[in-house]
Amino acid sequence: MSFTSNEEWSPGDSCTFFKIVVLASGTGSNFQALVEQLQRRILADPEGNPVLAPVCCTGNPPLMGAVVFDITLLITDVPGAPVLEKAWTRGVPTAVLSYEAYATAEEHDKHLIDAVRESEADLIVLAGYMRVLSPAFVQAFPGKIINLHPALLPAFPGTTSIADALEYGAKVTGVTVHYADEGVDTGPIIAQEPVRVEEGDTVESLAGRIHAVEHELLSDVVRKIAAGKVMAPQSGSRKVRVDK
Ligand code: GRF
Repeated sequence: MSFTSNEEWSPGDSCTFFKIVVLASGTGSNFQALVEQLQRRILADPEGNPVLAPVCCTGNPPLMGAVVFDITLLITDVPGAPVLEKAWTRGVPTAVLSYEAYATAEEHDKHLIDAVRESEADLIVLAGYMRVLSPAFVQAFPGKIINLHPALLPAFPGTTSIADALEYGAKVTGVTVHYADEGVDTGPIIAQEPVRVEEGDTVESLAGRIHAVEHELLSDVVRKIAAGKVMAPQSGSRKVRVDK
């Protein structure tokens, strides 16, 4: 595992940080959207209005007690994944935890658990993390792991959802953000947005519109979680309560 950061940032202690760890395997457009929309921004000003400008959290009186987003770590399982470059250029520390470096997936996930624990994450976001997490990882962070999926679950789970929806002839597909559980794309649903399939769509054209929706919906869900507006389901239920 290697940690790198090209930027040092020493915030003061007048704010509460909502710490986010992102796990991603590929391009990282959703990671980039999260950084651009949330990093070092205040959840809300003292009147409760969202604050869009980046903040430096150093003893500025209006920021006392404010909640500020801090994406503290990007973890990838793919050495050389383009998402790494996106993190480096935006000053987000990175860790590469390749599965090939460990004898078993369980062994890998032990190190993954340690890295996430060290970061003291309030939320773990799977944004294009193309591996199935072990039960140990899921159980280590109950109610704290969310996943982004490019279809309206439970339709079209798995890694080829956009092509599958097109092939199936669906007229509407979309985006889901859900809690991660031990299955593949099976956890309780937090938010969904539809995307219409147009006549003549290709995988690329449909993916472009799905990604645009993902980039907004994921940040929106993270803001709501940080604001305490998302209630994870009680045992025995799948229903997630989301307040406006
Ligand atoms: C997204 O479509 C996400 O829903 C899926 O993987 C893709 C990642 O895209 N799980 P990117 O790497 O964020 O561009």
